[in-house]
Amino acid sequence: MSCRWRAAVLVVAAVSCLVQAQHTKLQAVECPFPEGQVVLSEAECGKYSACEWTDGRCHMVDNAVGGYVVQNDPEETSRGFKVNLRKAQDSVTMFGGDVTNLVFEVIRHQDYHVQVKIYDADKARYEVPVPLSLPESPGLEPLYNVSVSGVGEPFHFQITRMATGNTVFRSMGPLTYEDQFIQIHTWLMSTYLYGFGENTHLSFRHVFEPRTTFPIFARDQPVGPDPMNEYGHHPYYMVMEDDEGNSHSVFLKNSNAMEYSTFLLDDGTPALTLRTIGGILDFHFFLGPYPEDLNVQYINMIGRPVFPPYWSLGFQLSRYGYNSTDAVREVRERMKLMGIPQDVQTCDIDYMNRYRDFTYDPVNWGDLPDLIQELHNDNLKVTLILDPALVIDFDDYQPAIRGKAADAFIKWSDPSLVPSDQEPGTDDYMVGYVWPDTKTVFPDFLRPETQTWWMNELKLFHDELRYDAIWIDMNEPANFGTNLDKPWNWPPDKPDWSLKCPNNAWDDPPYPTMTIRTGDNKSKKISDHTICMSAKQTDGNQSYLHYDVHSLYGWSETVATYNGLKEVQPEKRPVVLSRSTFPGSGQYAVHWLGDNSADWTQMHMAIIGMFDFGMFGIPMVGADICGFFGEPDLEMCMRWMEVGSFYPFSRNHNTAGSADQDPGMWPEVAEISRYTLNIRYQYLPYLYTLFHKAHMHGSTVVRPLLNVFPSDLQARDVDDQFMWGNGLMVAPVITKGATSRSVYFPKGLWYHLVHGELAATGPSTQTVDAPLEVIPLFVPGGTILPYQVPSINTVESRQNPFGLTVALDELMMASGDLFWDAGDGQMAMQQAYMGRFNYDQDELTLTVKHGAEAVADLYLETINIYGFPVMPSHVNITVNGNETAIASWMYDHTDRVLTTWTEVPMGKALNIKFLYEATHSLNTRH
Ligand code: NOJ
Repeated sequence: MSCRWRAAVLVVAAVSCLVQAQHTKLQAVECPFPEGQVVLSEAECGKYSACEWTDGRCHMVDNAVGGYVVQNDPEETSRGFKVNLRKAQDSVTMFGGDVTNLVFEVIRHQDYHVQVKIYDADKARYEVPVPLSLPESPGLEPLYNVSVSGVGEPFHFQITRMATGNTVFRSMGPLTYEDQFIQIHTWLMSTYLYGFGENTHLSFRHVFEPRTTFPIFARDQPVGPDPMNEYGHHPYYMVMEDDEGNSHSVFLKNSNAMEYSTFLLDDGTPALTLRTIGGILDFHFFLGPYPEDLNVQYINMIGRPVFPPYWSLGFQLSRYGYNSTDAVREVRERMKLMGIPQDVQTCDIDYMNRYRDFTYDPVNWGDLPDLIQELHNDNLKVTLILDPALVIDFDDYQPAIRGKAADAFIKWSDPSLVPSDQEPGTDDYMVGYVWPDTKTVFPDFLRPETQTWWMNELKLFHDELRYDAIWIDMNEPANFGTNLDKPWNWPPDKPDWSLKCPNNAWDDPPYPTMTIRTGDNKSKKISDHTICMSAKQTDGNQSYLHYDVHSLYGWSETVATYNGLKEVQPEKRPVVLSRSTFPGSGQYAVHWLGDNSADWTQMHMAIIGMFDFGMFGIPMVGADICGFFGEPDLEMCMRWMEVGSFYPFSRNHNTAGSADQDPGMWPEVAEISRYTLNIRYQYLPYLYTLFHKAHMHGSTVVRPLLNVFPSDLQARDVDDQFMWGNGLMVAPVITKGATSRSVYFPKGLWYHLVHGELAATGPSTQTVDAPLEVIPLFVPGGTILPYQVPSINTVESRQNPFGLTVALDELMMASGDLFWDAGDGQMAMQQAYMGRFNYDQDELTLTVKHGAEAVADLYLETINIYGFPVMPSHVNITVNGNETAIASWMYDHTDRVLTTWTEVPMGKALNIKFLYEATHSLNTRH
């Protein structure tokens, strides 16, 4: 074989020849068995002509045998080029159904973004119908080069970063492209691999040794330590390529069940296998170059996050199993008595009448409209839960009657599949069973008629119950007992029954992925816990098999609910809390990390989950504080309330039947919650500004240290500390019994957030005291954090005076900004407030870019300067040239903090000069 590569895409860089590498036996490129690797044996390996047995390993055959051959020179297209591929040997296969002719197509977008599609040349296959935002014309100076092997050669392709020659993607071994099994492998530049979800990861950085495989497929699966696929579907990862922090990310736009494997080749090179069981290979590569750039680039393509109303950043309380309005009142009283801030009260399915959507229990929740009014009077907002599954009572239950009239429900793909015992009136709908005591059908949210019906139901419901936000749960969609004798909660007085999926290619695919072998999968089927893959859905134009669009269910319900809420309350920003998500969901939804347990490891995993969802464009995220299952002890709940006070989505929630764990339950937890939530509420203006940036630009809110310090190698492994933007670092204690912890401080000065004393000069690792009532919080030098005096809820806190935490860097500089508006609804951008704070050598300025009206009646009162260099005997402070405007000042000699009190309107440009003489007096207030 000749060592010849074709380089294409505008600039032809020096192309490396990889043929040697392709020739080396890639024995680590594992041949996957549907039953899992436990069945590994020579005999098992021999069943697949695409596999070969060498030295006790079953691996894929050589690319020249098992892959595809390039048929022609690259053919230029308006945005890139195309190459035809043909299967090298028809007889070589994993599961049959090989696609003989493929097209490899390169499509250029922005300079930092290139798309690579590999699809069937002869027949259209399923492609994900979720829209992306792509530029009309490509960039002119791409950062990448794409090359593909030459005519007659085994197909492989490579993407490199032109500036450094770093590899972004370098396919290796054979590409397998069968109707229900597609597999591709790539070398990786490093083992700094992050992302992929929604999975249960024990570390943010992925593990390569031992080989680690994770499934991706939307699933009703509680959190646990095993490699499991959970509620959402996010085939998106990032690799940090080199020590400088150059990084790339890759999105595989595919919604079929999939899995990925991380492993090392025999020479130690890190590698990745991607497998999916349908659709096409549709990759989007982003070149950054830095992690935060990648987030911005990816998120701008899938859709920037929704802007949450201010109140939703307040503390939220929830539980499954209040069981009555009076129980909610009791908890609310407890919160008030203990003085714990709260903005949202959530009601779970127990408010419903027999768990039926759009109803409420007339006995225990009969005065729910009154309760909602009381909560509103108390400045709280109310979130109500809805499940997608609707009971099949087409006689008395109006939502189902109207839904049927709209033909809103998911159907069997073929009338022959409708079970013979199907209830009269359920036509060819797929019938299942979830929470209610009656069987259910599942709305097909892809259908326009279903969306209209759902919107109408949301409206009618709002006429009855004045909810503020909707929580859409169980939308993987979850179904109980699929393929088993009966669901766990099946009524004992009824004969056993469950939804049973047929044996066919969709419900028994040849390679079902490891979703059938992990987590709670009793039936060992891909349809376990959900509806059958043989269901049919439609968007009005095109029909889809549930097999293909299963993981889009939550996304489609989210879009319908978001649009519905816009109709219900046009003057408000919709808040939709969704369990299942897909790339693009963040435009409409916020997310919590699902059913976790009161467990220290899971407290850690929640931080990793927040990092993942930051990458996925859903920054408003958090875990159930104090754990959903199980019961936390006082120490755990205290520590969890501490860290949870800094989750963007900060909610304490637990399951039915377990003891109350709201923070008012223990006086000690109440006290620490009041303290940490007050810090949260104090810095909500900063958090809100970060959310505004996320909404406008696609930046993250909670950040891993590596996003802020990409060339700091140590920061890349830190996943038990997190940042709010670049300006606040949270280092929670998440270890039982610990009263101190080791904290990694990257380069620069770091101050304790609360008192302002210098904590560390980085890079360094320090042991920091953290007795039970302390959560270590730091602010890096160079930052100005705007804050407001906290209050018991955001309605009150938003009226309070502002302050600034100014943390000076070594050059006596710091900066920050503040976005402010009405906190809800849509405000024209020019009316919203945007202020920029700058501190430079004893001078603080505020520049108001626009929107002074939005902060009318709001004043800046306190300025705390951390790291103020000398002890002044006298501080002569002028505000806009006026010496009398500062009422008083204080210098804390030990902590080197200068605090000044003034009262200046937030809406006016400001210039404060600090002129001082140095002496040695201590802590003097003047
Ligand atoms: C499952 C959700 O994940 C959980 O948060 C909720 O409490 C229950 N469903 C009951 O609605």
